[in-house]
Amino acid sequence: MIDLLRSAIPLDLRPELAEAVRRPWIMNQINAGMGEARRAPDYATPNLARWFRKNRSLGSRDRRVVAEAVHGLIRHEALLLRAGARSPDELVLRWADMMEGDRFDHLDATSPTEDLATALNIPGPIAQEWLNTLEPEGAAEFAQAINRRPAVHIRTNLQRTDRADLMAALSVEGVTTSPFPDSDTALTVEGRANLQATSAFRGGLFEVQDASSQLFVDALPIRSGGHVLDLCAGAGGKSLAMAALGAKVHATDIRSNALAELEKRAARAGATIDIAQPSLAPLVVVDAPCSGSGRLRRNPALRWGLSDAVHLSTQAELVAAATEFVAPDGVLAYATCSLLSRENSPPTPKGWHIISEQTLWPHVHNTDGFYWRLMARR
Ligand SMILES: C[S@@+](CC[C@H](N)C(=O)[O-])C[C@H]1O[C@@H](n2cnc3c(N)ncnc32)[C@H](O)[C@@H]1O
Repeated sequence: MIDLLRSAIPLDLRPELAEAVRRPWIMNQINAGMGEARRAPDYATPNLARWFRKNRSLGSRDRRVVAEAVHGLIRHEALLLRAGARSPDELVLRWADMMEGDRFDHLDATSPTEDLATALNIPGPIAQEWLNTLEPEGAAEFAQAINRRPAVHIRTNLQRTDRADLMAALSVEGVTTSPFPDSDTALTVEGRANLQATSAFRGGLFEVQDASSQLFVDALPIRSGGHVLDLCAGAGGKSLAMAALGAKVHATDIRSNALAELEKRAARAGATIDIAQPSLAPLVVVDAPCSGSGRLRRNPALRWGLSDAVHLSTQAELVAAATEFVAPDGVLAYATCSLLSRENSPPTPKGWHIISEQTLWPHVHNTDGFYWRLMARR
């Protein structure tokens, strides 16, 4: 019998963290951090990052402890409440117990859905969907995978270097990396590193990008010199990856500040990206706005208010609008960083069919959760 209720409890014990968070001063700081996160749940991650930067009373070691605890509480709050926590301080104390190996053996299982929802601190309908898709064994592995802080991936800028040379250059700067399987560009960064401070980064040899996005770009029919319209380019993660493979990328987005960031990144990478009104192209990419449910391991606060309903109509509209710009015999690629089926099944436009599709799961592929489908006219 799979123990879903405890499936997301970290397997590595951290007694030193438990000891640290029981100090009243640290506990107050954790409560203040949680207050900051709850103040505007949709912006919890950037707000917390700012709060940590500004909070000068925390030294770097304490900052790490407080950050681990705040993210731990966000991940495990439902389980800690079920284990009896009745106040902010008790939430911290129960989390400390968990870091020392307490698995709350006094708690009984209820239903598989409720247990998974509690384990992951997510809404019941989403737990139900993942349980249906993955079966209890897969759901337990998934729960374990998304409640751990993931490794950072970087993308080699093939316009400037290759992966082996980048590994060597980073190694000289004290950053150890290892090749990510099934990719020519992706590297996993071992341990913590201040990547932005490296001369390899300043020289445009790499970008920080999860391997899921790199695998998606690898799956696109990109020809050197071929035109691509990136309709939801944002700050340009995929645009830059496609340009590095030789595509002539035309980027659009409704957020002009994101496009300004894209221009800065393109300059560093030595890439030319055309920021323009949409026009006909043989490959059109819709990297759609979504719940971000595939990114829970990097952004634990996304679980607050997690829903597959918010972006559905925009996703459908974007796909319909994109068809207008796909050249005859061209391909339309739709992608999300979501693991929710409704977000990953926008209506297929009339006269079109799906050529291929792929879902990446953190516990299977070791990436953020990601989905893509390629479509063409019949
Ligand atoms: C998942 S993000 C894109 C990430 C980006 N492609 C990358 O790789 O870094 C989705 C983007 O869609 C944009 N967006 C939302 N609605 C849009 C619309 N109606 N038309 C164009 N872009 C839209 C958002 O501003 C956001 O930048």
